[in-house]
Amino acid sequence: MGTSTNIAWHESEVTKEVRQKRNKHKSAVLWFTGLSGSGKSTASVALEKALHQLGIHTYRLDGDNVRHGLNKNLGFSPADRTENIRRIGEVANLMVDAGIITLTAFISPYRQDRNNVRTLLEDKEFIEVYVKCSVETCEVRDPKGLYEKARAGEIKGFTGIDAPYEKPVDPEIILDTEKHTLEESVQILITYLKENGYIEPYLITENSNG
Ligand code: ADX
Repeated sequence: MGTSTNIAWHESEVTKEVRQKRNKHKSAVLWFTGLSGSGKSTASVALEKALHQLGIHTYRLDGDNVRHGLNKNLGFSPADRTENIRRIGEVANLMVDAGIITLTAFISPYRQDRNNVRTLLEDKEFIEVYVKCSVETCEVRDPKGLYEKARAGEIKGFTGIDAPYEKPVDPEIILDTEKHTLEESVQILITYLKENGYIEPYLITENSNG
């Protein structure tokens, strides 16, 4: 891969701060991490809908729009997963700069990769959401039938079976999807965003339509 030289950065006059002011909310990444089938996508889809209804500017990055496009040349080797997360982190950083509450839903199995994204962002801009669910339960859910294939040896290096998942040490939020309903999970996330000043506390979920 080449390295760019002679690039001059132009300071923007429309800054992240003025975008946030106009949007009337802060921007940050909610970084959902967890096993396949743990409920990352489901929770992030539901949260995005709730935030959108509150008038918040959001964007969701997930396998459908990233692994089929930007990262379609990447597989599931450790190096490819690291590169997958690195690129997603860079895109998320741009989205935060654009004033958007960004939701990412990737296994992101390596602690170091997640911490690199945390370092890329400014303080409080990286909200790690550990979507907690045992391998056993994920395997029972098996929404895509991939655990069965991994057990049968048809997929090698499947996270939780024969590839590692490194749990977050000190995540901002833990969603235990074996205990909480989807509605409860969304409420936990919205409450966190209100209590920590990302979105206005007066925004009421019940009032919002469309
Ligand atoms: S990550 O490890 O690089 O963060 P990512 O979230 O993009 O993974 O993709 C995970 C999804 O890819 C899984 O939910 C599953 O549908 C599919 N997948 C295909 N092969 C594997 C594998 N070997 N391990 C985990 N997930 C896989």
